[in-house]
Amino acid sequence: MDIHTPIVINGINIKNRVALPPIVNVGWSNPDGMVSSKHIAHYERIAKGGTGLIIVEATCVNPTGRIFKYQLGIWDDNHIEGLARIAEAVHKHDTKVLIQLHHAGLTTRKAVAEKAFGPSVDPENNRSVELTQEQIDGLVNSFVSAARRAHLAGFDGVELHGAHGYLLNQFASSAINHRTDEYGGSHENRLQFAHQIIKGIREVAPPSFIIGYRMAGCSPTLTDGIEIAKLLQDYGVHYLHVSHGGEKGINPSVPNGFAFNHVVYMGTEVKKHVTVPVMVVNQIKSPERANMLLSNGLADTVAIGRDMLTDPDWVAKAKTGEAINLCVDCQPRCKRYTKPELCPLAE
Ligand SMILES: Cc1cc2nc3c(=O)[nH]c(=O)nc-3n(C[C@H](O)[C@H](O)[C@H](O)COP(=O)(O)O)c2cc1C
Repeated sequence: MDIHTPIVINGINIKNRVALPPIVNVGWSNPDGMVSSKHIAHYERIAKGGTGLIIVEATCVNPTGRIFKYQLGIWDDNHIEGLARIAEAVHKHDTKVLIQLHHAGLTTRKAVAEKAFGPSVDPENNRSVELTQEQIDGLVNSFVSAARRAHLAGFDGVELHGAHGYLLNQFASSAINHRTDEYGGSHENRLQFAHQIIKGIREVAPPSFIIGYRMAGCSPTLTDGIEIAKLLQDYGVHYLHVSHGGEKGINPSVPNGFAFNHVVYMGTEVKKHVTVPVMVVNQIKSPERANMLLSNGLADTVAIGRDMLTDPDWVAKAKTGEAINLCVDCQPRCKRYTKPELCPLAE
């Protein structure tokens, strides 16, 4: 098995095992969250390069939970038409397409909303507010309605953003969630919010609609991450995409001789405990390294982020052996966090 081997996820045939992970395109939307022509051209270009799956960037399910004002939105039926144009452009190239559903919760910026809501108050954030039951019900509804819109727009499914310290991750982690009601305490209770969303999506989308979950491998520890992965599988998610847990995640140390970083390591550890496909990510970079993970059974599929942005033909070149324009790893931070056009290798 290698990156070019097809994979079936929830009955949907994906032509190879390479995915573009969700990567926000800062500034391409207006505050109304609408799709722009830049989004459509961008995702179509990546699809043309041969990747089997594209997971469209973190798209906010409720305007009060945005990370920044110019984030793509899926909180209103008016968003469907633009999003449908992305799905259509990607599908033209026989690439499957999911959209990541996101809410920042306690990390919602002040420029977006006066209050930042989450499972519990964050002592380090004086804008933070604990969600009431009624507000939790409202947010479950926001995620489910967003999935309904994704289905209507022609996406093959959704990926719930449960990593990087955002709302779903905040609920799942005992380092952040200190509730004493049915949403806190045990792993099952902390995942209750995610479970309600997954059940709700099943009611508004057909069984063929993929429900993926980007989880924090450490939530807060890797041991917790593995328990969370098992529960998510029981709840019926169709794949797990293992990333990190943001500031409150406790990163495990990587065993001597392991050729990848702690994020990939967490994915390979999660894989040992579940049967659903596991997608690993973070600094995998080259086809050789991706193949190493797949041929040794350490992962089912790989996500190639920045290196696919610097070279949309990553998959096509992996086939011919042509050199790939690898990301130069700008420091202190990837330039795309400020403006995608600032990437020194942007086309
Ligand atoms: C500019 C930028 C934006 C990102 N946006 C998102 C996002 O919208 N959702 C998400 O889950 N991760 C996001 N990530 C993380 C990526 O999906 C990915 O996990 C990360 O880039 C590591 O993979 P790579 O080394 O192959 O790039 C972002 C990363 C970057 C550099």
